[in-house]
Amino acid sequence: MRHFMEKDGEMFAEDVALSEIAAKVGTPVYVYSAATFSRHYDVFAKGFEGTDALIAYSVKANSNLAILTLLGKRGAGADVVSGGELTRALRAGISPDKIVFSGVGKTREEMHLALNAGIFQFNVESAAELDALSDTAATMNMRAPIAFRVNPDVAAGGHEKISTGKKENKFGIAWEDAPSLYARAASLPGIKIQGVDVHIGSQITQLDPYARTIEKIGGLIKTLRADGHTIETFDLGGGLGIPYGDGGQQPPPPADYAAMVLEATKDLDVRLVFEPGRMIAGNSGVLLSRVIYTKPGETRNFLIVDAAMNDLIRPALYGAYHDVEPVKSGANATVSYDIVGPICESGDTFAVQRDLPKLAADELVVFHSAGAYGAVQSSQYNTRPLVPEVLVSGDKYEIIRKRPNYDEMLSSETIPDFI
Ligand code: LLP
Repeated sequence: MRHFMEKDGEMFAEDVALSEIAAKVGTPVYVYSAATFSRHYDVFAKGFEGTDALIAYSVKANSNLAILTLLGKRGAGADVVSGGELTRALRAGISPDKIVFSGVGKTREEMHLALNAGIFQFNVESAAELDALSDTAATMNMRAPIAFRVNPDVAAGGHEKISTGKKENKFGIAWEDAPSLYARAASLPGIKIQGVDVHIGSQITQLDPYARTIEKIGGLIKTLRADGHTIETFDLGGGLGIPYGDGGQQPPPPADYAAMVLEATKDLDVRLVFEPGRMIAGNSGVLLSRVIYTKPGETRNFLIVDAAMNDLIRPALYGAYHDVEPVKSGANATVSYDIVGPICESGDTFAVQRDLPKLAADELVVFHSAGAYGAVQSSQYNTRPLVPEVLVSGDKYEIIRKRPNYDEMLSSETIPDFI
């Protein structure tokens, strides 16, 4: 069932009217549905029931402590890419033995933090990083458990900025280099080889790229084992797409993904690891915004809303489509709007020539599918306060990140005496 839906002519998040949240918290504001987060996690987890798979939620998609706590309580681990994300995951009570650390540029400080915490796995992306990790672990009298992120050279992902599995991307080690890098890893004092990792991209709407990746990696696992390495884990990364309502390609149901993966990996004798982000968070949240002005023009009708590209950058950065809907249905007349924010850049445009029921100033609209890569990519550009976040559960709701006031926003800045 959908948890953002219309009741009595207005849109609710679970049992709370969005108009009530707008009145109490102000706009713009992200509103999340706890039931949707839980459902998405459970649907994914159910596909791997009865196996020892580790589902390490990709923290970057939505890293709010309340969200991490909610998912952690349901059994999720965490995929982190920085010391900050690691700190969040630990603070949310996620057990270190369910945490994997990804990313091309881990610093020695971050490695130290993660080794101290005792995380499950480092996904290593280069020879230089391998050496730094071995050094760091050895000085702590430890061995870092690693998988190499191997680049399978498979094209996948909805946009050039989020496609990662091709040769020309910065991610992972080259396919041909894998055997020699594993051999080198085996010779280092601070490294314990435990698996293989891939992540081929994001917003993937077909199973085929995954199937091809598994086939390639399956072959690699055999080669590595024949070389004498112990390969216990296979981390398939994240990337499963979600419907954005743009009539584009429909992603496969998580159950189909799970069935395909289990079948394709059944003879590999590995513990599977997954790093889903968008699939869990994307449709669990909306960005709620108020119309400031309407500006009819000769060729275009502008709808100027109080959310801007600093709050939700996906349309400006990736040309991403987000479904927009008025909170209160009413008007029958349809208008074709360019929906824009108040920021002084033409790029601050959410949608171009989008047909919507006629709207007036002060009315509320929602941007759907904004739970992933929304709030986490927000900034204070134009000295706009960082957009707050609200979590709804049934008829309850709470602010889980508050909107800073101007004093708070300026408090970390100082004016040197020499000016
Ligand atoms: N694992 C790794 C190593 C990743 O780099 C990512 C995402 C994930 C897992 C999670 O992928 P997901 O399941 O969410 O597709 N900001 C962009 C998306 C960037 C994705 C980066 N990596 C957007 O707004 O579309």
